[in-house]
Amino acid sequence: MTSQHDAVEVITTKRDRGTLSDSQIDWVIDAYTRGAVADEQMSALAMAILLNGMERHEIARWTAAMIASGERMDFSSLSRPTADKHSTGGVGDKITLPLAPLVAACGVAVPQLSGRGLGHTGGTLDKLESIPGWRATLSNDEMFAQLEEVGAVICAAGDGLAPADKKLYALRDVTATVEAIPLIASSIMSKKIAEGTGALVLDVKVGSGAFMKDQARARELAETMVALGKDAGVHTVALLTDMGTPLGLTAGNAIEVAESVEVLAGGGPGDVVELTLALAREMLAGAGRGDVDPADKLADGSAMDVWKAMIRAQGGDPDAALPVARESHVVTAPTSGVLASLDAMAVGMAAWRLGAGRARKEDPVQAGAGVVWHARPGDEVRAGQPLFTLLTDEPERFDRALASLEGGYEIAADAARGDVGGRTLLIDRVD
Ligand code: URA
Repeated sequence: MTSQHDAVEVITTKRDRGTLSDSQIDWVIDAYTRGAVADEQMSALAMAILLNGMERHEIARWTAAMIASGERMDFSSLSRPTADKHSTGGVGDKITLPLAPLVAACGVAVPQLSGRGLGHTGGTLDKLESIPGWRATLSNDEMFAQLEEVGAVICAAGDGLAPADKKLYALRDVTATVEAIPLIASSIMSKKIAEGTGALVLDVKVGSGAFMKDQARARELAETMVALGKDAGVHTVALLTDMGTPLGLTAGNAIEVAESVEVLAGGGPGDVVELTLALAREMLAGAGRGDVDPADKLADGSAMDVWKAMIRAQGGDPDAALPVARESHVVTAPTSGVLASLDAMAVGMAAWRLGAGRARKEDPVQAGAGVVWHARPGDEVRAGQPLFTLLTDEPERFDRALASLEGGYEIAADAARGDVGGRTLLIDRVD
């Protein structure tokens, strides 16, 4: 790698609203990964990018440099096409769990590298780790073999994949620079492109429980990511979906696994089923299998068969009882009427405070903790009926969780019924 650049010059270019050259980008990403650019210098550059933005070609080059910082997986020798999904994160978002085996049951392999939760949004690996025996870490060879035999893998990304992003994301987390669209888009897409999937569907969440609170920014993020994917030869589509209201009826770990299994058994909450099927259809179309109807594979039990095989292949027992929290607390409806709103952020914070999520990366999570809600916007409720069940192993957590829920829902007089419950889950599509 050339050394015609230095960190101060690169920071100065972006600070003064300039455009970074290809060689500046290649140099700074490589030097930062090697430790030759210091954290404080990369922090200054990240803040300059947050404040002054990046042009499309700068984002593409930044993404390519992050991919080049590590290994690139290749599934092209598998006997079936591959497709993956990435969600920008939400409350009660357990969709990956039913989706991966469902798409595999339709003949498309799903190499899903997932993460752990941080803050109020849950992590797919944390949820799956509540299944007795299940392990998140697989070698590349194990992943390949499981994709060939079972068709679906959900596992942790290895250290070799986009190491520049690992370092940079941790830095952004503590320097208030997570929210920059060029940095979010390049972070997500560097990992997904390096993972080697043939098709990719992005679920970009919008609303109180999402990263992107407003639709215009969510759309900009979606468009940026779709362009990056296409430039890299990955068939990429994004759906903008509602995250003002949490998904399904549960937010936590084991309780979300149980809800996902209900979906695989042909039941489950309508919104979880609707989003799972919408994403499955996009993944199948992207992988050239748009002729298969995923609803049939939920109905005939074949998605459930793949789920069980996928859990067993990673050491888990799909039939074992899931962990249950030691303590529970029920919140009842203060008045009768119609549940007019349920705020995703309030529910996510409550689940997090009950121990379902972590404050720092190293923290453990409680498998049984979380929130179950017994009504959804539009449902009629009677005074005194259970509205929420809070679950935790540590009852001293109830007070702070209850404080998060305060003001997070609204019961309207019955007469207002016609005005509520009309949620649009699928907001937009970008391709
Ligand atoms: N998820 C990522 O992987 N990276 C970001 O920057 C934000 C969300």
